[in-house]
Amino acid sequence: MAKPKRRYVCAACGSVTTRWQGQCADCGEWNTLAEEAPQTVFSQKHHLSTGGRPILFEALDSNTPLPQRRGTGLAEFDRALGGGLVPGSAILMGGDPGIGKSTLLLQAAAKVALSGASAIYISGEEAAGQVRLRAERLGLAGAPISLAAATSVRDILTTLGSTQAPALLVIDSIQTMHSDQIEGAPGTVSQVRGCAFELIRYAKENDVSLVLVGHVTKDGSIAGPRVLEHMVDVVMSFEGERSHQYRILRSLKNRFGPVDEIGVFAMAGAGLEEVGNPSMLFLSGRDQPVAGSAVFPAIEGTRPVLVEVQALIVRLASGATPRRAVVGWDSGRLAMLLAVLEARCGLNFSSAEVYLNVAGGYRLGDPAADLAVAAALISALADKPLAADSVWFGEVSLAGEIRNVAHAGVRLRESAKLGFRDAFGPPDLPAKHDEARFHPLSMLPNLVDRIMGDE
Ligand code: TYD
Ligand code: MG
Repeated sequence: MAKPKRRYVCAACGSVTTRWQGQCADCGEWNTLAEEAPQTVFSQKHHLSTGGRPILFEALDSNTPLPQRRGTGLAEFDRALGGGLVPGSAILMGGDPGIGKSTLLLQAAAKVALSGASAIYISGEEAAGQVRLRAERLGLAGAPISLAAATSVRDILTTLGSTQAPALLVIDSIQTMHSDQIEGAPGTVSQVRGCAFELIRYAKENDVSLVLVGHVTKDGSIAGPRVLEHMVDVVMSFEGERSHQYRILRSLKNRFGPVDEIGVFAMAGAGLEEVGNPSMLFLSGRDQPVAGSAVFPAIEGTRPVLVEVQALIVRLASGATPRRAVVGWDSGRLAMLLAVLEARCGLNFSSAEVYLNVAGGYRLGDPAADLAVAAALISALADKPLAADSVWFGEVSLAGEIRNVAHAGVRLRESAKLGFRDAFGPPDLPAKHDEARFHPLSMLPNLVDRIMGDE
């Protein structure tokens, strides 16, 4: 038998090499390669075509009942999941430290347990007493959850194997788990992958809904190789600014549902509260109109959310390279928009620092935000506030045209409902809208005239 080769796996991208290097050749990350236990290499004679057990085939319309989703008792969590937990599935929940993952999952486990199903919460980070303390603070001390502090996957699976399988199993976190069959400390690539594999297998075989909490590295990806994301059915991320109250639960991958619905929560003194109607959340208190602020009617999944975009322009004397800083939007997109405003409208940002912020710790991903960002930039540059009761949406092309976007009707209706009287958007809206006073703008220079002019 051939001598097993040494293998090195990159913790960031999961690529495998046979030689250790300081930098991963695939993703360019430094110090991410770690040696992995060698794998047995079978000789050529060892064919896989005999000695297995026959598998059973099933038709798509077979009579075996489909697995029923189970609600978590938190409607916003269920919404982000696409309708609740699927038995026999695995969810990976990522998010910055302290954002509220443990709190959310303890609350969900408590709700599931109170509904009569069994829920197990295993913490590898906190002692059972600490988790109980938190439950007490959340007013959940009476919920019949089974709680344990453990990090050995062998202990966990042996224990679970001797009792009835729970409906929900939470492992907080996968980076603290270890298996004695795998070399390496907890948190290394092979440990994380091996432990996740065993836990997921248990979940699939026993119709358990498994939630694995995953730590996030400083660049925002879930620590451990990307393979973890391939192994699970659902990848969720719990987001927000720790200094702000609001938290957004997003699914980044979902084998059983759409990935565009979000769940919105507010972190309060007694845990996470659900926010059923988030459309007003991301507007700051707007008594006096200020230059550089524009309201954008965003769409999250099927729900409209009004968001305030703020821009600040600081003129520099000369010489120094001006800064561009963005919070909550794509910095490449800002650079593009500034270039279009310079090239098509003759505005000059090159000697000015540009700061862009999306209020409330919200992250904008909708391309329809272009027009609102452009309006905020022009308003800041001209030092002229936009009308306080106006909203702006539309995609801007490199040629400076304002393009139509999806869900214009929903955006207009929600804006009108919340008291915004004027809406500015693309010229070619398909349907007639009389919900708000609608002002079509076809080119970016029209926007500049509108804001800079005296109308
Ligand atoms: P936690 O769930 O421990 O975060 P994670 O598991 O993602 O690291 O949440 C910790 C933060 O939440 C902590 O900074 C305090 C805050 N918090 C509240 O504001 N109210 C509460 O009722 C609880 C339990 C936590
Ligand atoms: Mg935690």
